[in-house]
Amino acid sequence: MRLISSIKEMSALSERWRREGKTIAFVPTMGYFHEGHLSLMREGRRRGDVLVVSLFVNPIQFGPKEDLNQYPRDLERDKALAQKEGVDVLFVPKQEEMYPSGFQTFVEVTELTQYLCGLSRPGHFRGVTTVVTKLFNIVKPHIAIFGLKDYQQYLVIKRMVEDLNFDIEIIGYPTVREADGLAMSSRNEYLSPEQRKSALSLSQGLKLAQALVNAGETNVQIIVNRVTNFIKQFPYTQIDYVKICDPETLEDLTEIKDKALLALAVKIGRARLIDNTILEVKK
Ligand code: PAF
Repeated sequence: MRLISSIKEMSALSERWRREGKTIAFVPTMGYFHEGHLSLMREGRRRGDVLVVSLFVNPIQFGPKEDLNQYPRDLERDKALAQKEGVDVLFVPKQEEMYPSGFQTFVEVTELTQYLCGLSRPGHFRGVTTVVTKLFNIVKPHIAIFGLKDYQQYLVIKRMVEDLNFDIEIIGYPTVREADGLAMSSRNEYLSPEQRKSALSLSQGLKLAQALVNAGETNVQIIVNRVTNFIKQFPYTQIDYVKICDPETLEDLTEIKDKALLALAVKIGRARLIDNTILEVKK
């Protein structure tokens, strides 16, 4: 595995691979790898001739009061894990090279970002779409893989790729969970053992909702109330949102007809956790 930090070097290598007819698979990350990241890498390995993983804690997608400075980092461990997954290049660009002084150009998806995390984290998706555009231009992948735990991010990236005619196939990969259901996240690191127990309220809340739907409940308000009350029973939980919406446009629904996205964001201590599922009405 090669560790590359220079943008010029990464770009030249990708250029060469493209000339050689190789399919480049790409997994963008902010590091501190867990099984979720590793499964994205395995998917990339399967789909591409060569696999690039980027590791960059992108400052412009964090709000001024968010956890940029505390975001967990361990490059040595990440290097070893990526190497074990057969990654060809771990691309770790420097902040000064990604955002030199004078930087002033941003990419924005205007509608899909008006919902869910876009409301509680103003500017977050603009930071994501801007950095992902830069990474796409540098790495020049044919295929890029994103985790579906960040479902809204996946939709926003797909929209951007379509709207701006990037010739890149975007793959959404299912959420990887701990044995007890907790969705894997680098931010789980922030949880104390007691808070870790409360974090199960998210995945269990999703299960409760699907059980209600299976029992014939399709009224969104009723399901949202039940899930909200369920999560509130757990100590330390502070709900940011419990939303049931259209899985493509993210617009609010009042009734579940066929499929709906249930998305949750809950603060537990200093960890802001998200999780989601597609609720399905079985006919
Ligand atoms: O999902 C993430 O880790 C980040 O938002 C991403 C896509 C790497 C952009 O910084």
